[in-house]
Amino acid sequence: MKKVFVTHQLPGEKIHLLGQACELNVWMGPGLLPPATLREELAAAQGLVCMLTDRIDADLLAALPQLEFVSSMSVGVDHIDVAALTARGIPLGHTPGVLVETTADLAFSLMLAAARRIHEADRFMRDGHWGANNAWSPDFFTGKDVYGATLGIIGMGEIGQAMARRAQGFGMEVLGWNRSPRDVPGIASVSFEELLLRSDFVSVHVALTDETRGLLDAEAIALMKPGSVLVNTARGGIVDEQALARALSSGDLYAAGMDVFDTEPVPADNPLLQLPNVVVAPHIGSATQMTRARMADMAALNALAAARGEAMPQCANPEVYG
Ligand code: DGY
Repeated sequence: MKKVFVTHQLPGEKIHLLGQACELNVWMGPGLLPPATLREELAAAQGLVCMLTDRIDADLLAALPQLEFVSSMSVGVDHIDVAALTARGIPLGHTPGVLVETTADLAFSLMLAAARRIHEADRFMRDGHWGANNAWSPDFFTGKDVYGATLGIIGMGEIGQAMARRAQGFGMEVLGWNRSPRDVPGIASVSFEELLLRSDFVSVHVALTDETRGLLDAEAIALMKPGSVLVNTARGGIVDEQALARALSSGDLYAAGMDVFDTEPVPADNPLLQLPNVVVAPHIGSATQMTRARMADMAALNALAAARGEAMPQCANPEVYG
């Protein structure tokens, strides 16, 4: 029986099938798995089922000559050195598709919250500020209209398209940019610059790769329409957080909705946390019970296929199968 290390207890049902076919060693926590423990526990394993919080780099892989397969319970694989796995012919499973609608729901929620200042209003009330001298007036908690505004979608993959469908229901004009141009009905394909110049709301939906790291740098942020709103539910490394914080403090940008950050968990001194016009969430784009169970099942089935010597149903580096 192959030994498989699983870096977190998993929801869903398919993990039991993996348990029948392999010798499972599940890390029970609490908290995030320390890198040294990951290295130790993996020393004798042929298989790994990991989370996006586990860094699987070339150094770790070099210490694991016996490793045969990796399955991540995530669609993004930027926490893993995919090239190093591929060079060794090790298949990498991931979980595309099942989190599309759930992540788009969160992106749209952050956009609405940032536009209508829901987080500010919530804090205002809880802090006891709503009183006779601080109550309804014509400019009390005024925000920005989402209905009828222009949304620019950076990355017209499945999640970008799901975001566009929601926007169409709100009567928004939808612009889209993709690294390899693609025609998507209902989305006007424009250049990256045009999207930034024209959009009232910009939502990021590209994967983090060498090409997209720092895509929204200070220069790109400076191109954004004055008073616009940025939403990021993709990956932190795509947006320059310092430049974004400056643009939000100066009022060049109206607000931001951020679910992902350069460093996660976010250090307390991250400037975005100090700004009232930023609504934040702790990387919960796919966090519904149903979606997490589906992701876990997909991760377990990828590992099960690899343990049986079959091709993974959802493989991020299918070239390993020749
Ligand atoms: C993923 O799977 O890559 C998502 O970021 C999880 O929310």
